[in-house]
Amino acid sequence: MNVLITGGAGFLGHKLCGALLRRGALSDAGGQLRPIQRIRLFDVVQIAPNDSRVESVVGDIANSDDVRAALGNDTDSIFHLAAVVSGEAEQDFDLGMRVNVDGTRALLEACRNLPHPPRVVFTSSLAVFGGPLPDPVPDEWPLTPQSSYGAQKAIGELLLNDMSRKGFIDGRALRLPTICVRPGKPNKAASSFLSSIIREPLNGVEAICPVEPGLRVWLLSPRRAIENLILAHELPATCFGHTRSVNVPGLSVSVGEMVQALRKIAGDAVAARVKFQRDETIERIVSSWPAAFTATLGRSLGMQADPDFASIIQAYIEDNR
Ligand SMILES: NC(=O)c1ccc[n+]([C@@H]2O[C@H](COP(=O)([O-])OP(=O)(O)OC[C@H]3O[C@@H](n4cnc5c(N)ncnc54)[C@H](O)[C@@H]3O)[C@@H](O)[C@H]2O)c1
Repeated sequence: MNVLITGGAGFLGHKLCGALLRRGALSDAGGQLRPIQRIRLFDVVQIAPNDSRVESVVGDIANSDDVRAALGNDTDSIFHLAAVVSGEAEQDFDLGMRVNVDGTRALLEACRNLPHPPRVVFTSSLAVFGGPLPDPVPDEWPLTPQSSYGAQKAIGELLLNDMSRKGFIDGRALRLPTICVRPGKPNKAASSFLSSIIREPLNGVEAICPVEPGLRVWLLSPRRAIENLILAHELPATCFGHTRSVNVPGLSVSVGEMVQALRKIAGDAVAARVKFQRDETIERIVSSWPAAFTATLGRSLGMQADPDFASIIQAYIEDNR
């Protein structure tokens, strides 16, 4: 199997690559398990691979020539993760449209030149929903994004669904919860603080929480996110009915409960490093997102959430010790 990961130098791309290498095999279009021969990491950022099966290819997802060159004529499967994240797509509309919409279209169009329709796993987001929402949001709720990022992900899903219907690709769009705890530095996602309020206090640094403690959010650990992306790849196309878009199961938790869990694990002094200081722009975007889903289809397909927020913190500590 030859695999392409777009956004392969990013947070989830890096973790996905590691998980695929450890797994060693993926199902081909006919459902046959075959060894992974090559993983190409396509990104604007170059990385230094430490496994002979991995190649780093630098290019722009919105540039059709770059995308065609990265696909070659022997790519079997694609994980499409390259994106401009929520805060940045809101600040720079043109950049978000170019990377998230033009880039997704360029990739899916280029797939049509491959000898066989590839399986394509696309990372969509809960941000495709917004406005007045039922709690929990059922699977069949209409897409009403309240941010440019959410609208761009919704367009990507429509393209992926239609090209799957046409038989150009075999797509699966996973609407991921907010992934927490993200290691490293804060990124430009509006939800970045959800990781900062755990990561920074554990590292001895203060963190600002820009929303009220009562705000509920829908979260998933990086471990579960990667497991669910690989599971989605492995499912036969017959598992999907009228839609290739799946709400991924997550954990519904308030920001106050997140800090409580941190207090239980790391103590009062660590939890006291979280300072509440409202930021209306961030609060408006994040509070427009759903706080809970039924995720009926996702669960029936075998996708899993984390049992509680304490286990998400524990997993972060273990993975980043
Ligand atoms: N992390 C989350 O909480 C979360 C939640 C829902 C959905 N998602 C989606 O999952 C995917 C991966 O998220 P992540 O957290 O790893 O993000 P990330 O920002 O760490 O990774 C995205 C990668 O895309 C690359 N990229 C940006 N513009 C590009 C371009 N023009 N051409 C090629 N590559 C480009 C970046 O360099 C980066 O390495 C994204 O599509 C994101 O929208 C993430």
